Amino acid sequence: MEFPNCTVVDHPLVKHKLTLMRRAETSTASFRALLQEISLLLAYEAFRDLKLRDEEIQTPMAKTVAPVLDGKKLVLVAILRAGQGILDGMLQLVPSARVGHIGLYRDPETLAAVEYYYRVPGQLADRDVVVCDPMLATGNSAVAALQRLKRNKPGSVRFVCLLASPEGLTNLREHHPDVHVYTAAIDERLDEHGYIIPGLGDAGDRLFGTK
Ligand code: URA
Repeated sequence: MEFPNCTVVDHPLVKHKLTLMRRAETSTASFRALLQEISLLLAYEAFRDLKLRDEEIQTPMAKTVAPVLDGKKLVLVAILRAGQGILDGMLQLVPSARVGHIGLYRDPETLAAVEYYYRVPGQLADRDVVVCDPMLATGNSAVAALQRLKRNKPGSVRFVCLLASPEGLTNLREHHPDVHVYTAAIDERLDEHGYIIPGLGDAGDRLFGTK
């Protein structure tokens, strides 16, 4: 299946690290470290089209004109709680980014997203926003988070996840065709509980060691 709204970052390092993360026996510490490392690599791709402007600088040798990032500071928004793992990796690459959090949980019966927390930097207009959540499964949380975020009128929005399902990508595209997704892999399907198969289990539990 083709997903025009999605870029799969299929670099060998990303693939290798993702396989380590999928393994059931991988420790919490390793899982956390690997998620940070992959997130940095995903961010590298997600930020490929950031605008630049030329600035005149002085090197130890000569004056020259060199590119620097243009525009306002980036905004990274983590969907709690597992999105924090991606955020930590991305912040290594863009340490001056502003940070927001959106708290959503999945109703276990309906799998619908329920919001319990929302705090993002003010004045999102003209800012590039990246929403982070490791698992794009049903896509319901992502759709709800993006709907809420768009009320603050961000300049542009991208979505970065570790794994996506075909169902989640279709759902996201239907509701937010303007939001491009960057992921390490698109897996086969969802199970009856909305988990990604083969996936890697519950990303939050594996990241925080809560199971
Ligand atoms: N959330 C997870 O943590 N894992 C899945 O497979 C689906 C949703």
